[in-house]
Amino acid sequence: MYTILTKRWLTDNIVEMSILAPRLAHSALPGQFLIVKTDEKGERIPLTICDVDLEKKSVTIVFQVVGDSTKEMSQYNVGDAFHDFLGPLGCPSKLVQDTIEDLQKQRILFVAGGVGTAPVYPQVKFLHQRQVETDVVIGAKNKQSLIYVEKMQQVASKVYIATDDGSCGTNGFVTDVIKDLTEQKKYHYDLVIAIGPMIMMKNVCDVTKKHGVKTIVSMNPLMVDGSGMCGACRCEVEGKPKFACVDGPEFDGHQIDFSLAMKRMNTY
Ligand code: FES
Repeated sequence: MYTILTKRWLTDNIVEMSILAPRLAHSALPGQFLIVKTDEKGERIPLTICDVDLEKKSVTIVFQVVGDSTKEMSQYNVGDAFHDFLGPLGCPSKLVQDTIEDLQKQRILFVAGGVGTAPVYPQVKFLHQRQVETDVVIGAKNKQSLIYVEKMQQVASKVYIATDDGSCGTNGFVTDVIKDLTEQKKYHYDLVIAIGPMIMMKNVCDVTKKHGVKTIVSMNPLMVDGSGMCGACRCEVEGKPKFACVDGPEFDGHQIDFSLAMKRMNTY
């Protein structure tokens, strides 16, 4: 059993929990995910690992309440325990394979949307710990829906905000901020990493493709059970079939067939 050490609501439907899971905390790398099950027969819920605390031997997860299983999870409190907490699963972010020297040569822009802001955090933190400077754009519907802004400001060089209703930061989408940075301010980025809703990642890729900036996206939204067997997370990358939970979740966004990915999302 895996005990909940802390719990807090980040918005009215997004919850953050830290869970005692010593082996997972020790081995997790940025970009990987885990599976939570509330009980033996419960649904397998894949969630990206958002942080680890080696002293407390805990792993942080952030999830949005979108169905019965996440609603049940959200009703658990500190001291309660999950039946299964399996991981780390999936491939780590490609960043962890680069040398510090190579990382420090790059200017990296992260783009985070909605609940996808949480899985961006461990990557920015990983780079911050290696003295690699990063810029981050966080997008949300409105000010109340923004998460992890202060946490991100502690590890990023610069954090830009965009809200659909203009209640915080730029009035518009993350792509408006990217265009402002690259087209108006003429900032140069070597790499963009975008994690969030599928449509946001597609739109980010459309902008960065025009500028020839390599862009990594996470196909986590396609995952259903993270088993490698249900087939739900199948996507096409460079015309070849890939499974987000086995071969990803991160892929070259310019090689993804987004229209197929969005059709599959609507199917499941
Ligand atoms: Fe089922 Fe990947 S989520 S095969």
